[in-house]
Amino acid sequence: MSAADPYPLSHVYPLGSRVNNRGHLEIGGCDTVELAAEFGTPAYVVAEHDLRARAQAYRRGLTARHPDGDVLFASKAFPCTAVYRVLAEEGLACDVASGGELALALRGGFDPGRIYLHGNAKSPGELNYALEAGVGHIVLDSLHDIERLERVVAERAAIQDVLIRITPNVAGDTHSAISTGQADSKFGFGLAEAPRAIERVADAAHLRLAGLHCHIGSQLLDLEPFVRAVEALATLGDFDVYNLGGGLGVAYLEAQEPPSIADYVATLTDAAHRVLGAGKRLLIEPGRSLVANSTVTLYTVETVKRNISSWVAVDGGMSDNLRPMLYGSRYEAALANRMLATGGEIHHLVGKHCESGDVIIRDVTLPSPVPGDLVVTPATGAYGHAMANNYNGIPRPPVIFCRDGDARVVVRRETYDDLMARDVN
Ligand code: LLP
Repeated sequence: MSAADPYPLSHVYPLGSRVNNRGHLEIGGCDTVELAAEFGTPAYVVAEHDLRARAQAYRRGLTARHPDGDVLFASKAFPCTAVYRVLAEEGLACDVASGGELALALRGGFDPGRIYLHGNAKSPGELNYALEAGVGHIVLDSLHDIERLERVVAERAAIQDVLIRITPNVAGDTHSAISTGQADSKFGFGLAEAPRAIERVADAAHLRLAGLHCHIGSQLLDLEPFVRAVEALATLGDFDVYNLGGGLGVAYLEAQEPPSIADYVATLTDAAHRVLGAGKRLLIEPGRSLVANSTVTLYTVETVKRNISSWVAVDGGMSDNLRPMLYGSRYEAALANRMLATGGEIHHLVGKHCESGDVIIRDVTLPSPVPGDLVVTPATGAYGHAMANNYNGIPRPPVIFCRDGDARVVVRRETYDDLMARDVN
């Protein structure tokens, strides 16, 4: 969006999005009406430039304030090989939370030495896979995790660098399902248990304790809890490496003004310099704030009906975006084929799934939608594709990268055959 743009779009849309003179939404220089005609709907449409710009903002922001640092892509947010590839090209490191994400990160081209394996219930198989692949750091989450890794590493007569995940007893203001820093958590070691874990790892012959990790929650729009988390880590001793996790919130709605990447990084590095001292290696692990606003979802309106309310039903729903159903998350919507239409009435935008909870947006204003209209919901890059599913036998949508007017499918749409691909006999 440039200052001279005659039809300015909200900052919820990917960088570079615009409305063209046909009144159509353009993402990455591509007309979304043409994208829908060529690739079908529903579809995730990614502005590649947006992904790269945010990765660069993170890298530049961190290294300018703290040269000995690294930005890890928290890849659970958008575990798609092409996204890993772009972010690896932009020089990021990577956080994986399972063997599957590790496989994708390796395929996407990440240097195994810059991959960090997380997980509160890693299996021996996942640990062996990580060692085999040469994963740089494993983040330990429980005493059983420590014992298990020690055994697996010893069998290989190897030495493994590790971090210990701390639950710092700091809760950010977010949905309870995505808050992780509170004392009573399934993640990491609480402040009372941490000294024992630190001692245990320090004594382990085959593990090298590099430092501590914490991640207090996700979609946090206030920076103060991040500072308190750093302060809590500082009470546990002096380490070489601190991984301060992810969690920066994004704008899903035009009225939301989250802190900028630069302000977030400045807050973290200032806190680290103040309480952790000099000479530390600092890691940050953003997921959502790297990828959420890079992507929009396109749907086609199938039916419109009035049953007291007006119900606008599209060809996707809780199979491609579970977030409204799981967390009550709000999104915006517009008609991508009629961006300049004025006025509008209040509707419920719903999906095609067989349950009443399949509401993508309750009470959204749209200008007289009719079957065939193209609905866009912006800011679906984080945890959209990641949590997509096949409920009601709906094939999952493709992922389409757009850049300078060129569109390419990086994940194809699922087929009915794919739904049967795992059947035996
Ligand atoms: N590091 C760790 C260890 C994490 O567990 C997470 C997210 C992140 C980093 C990245 O956090 P972010 O920057 O994306 O906030 N499905 C939920 C979000 C779950 C977040 C899980 N952990 C949602 O759709 O809101």
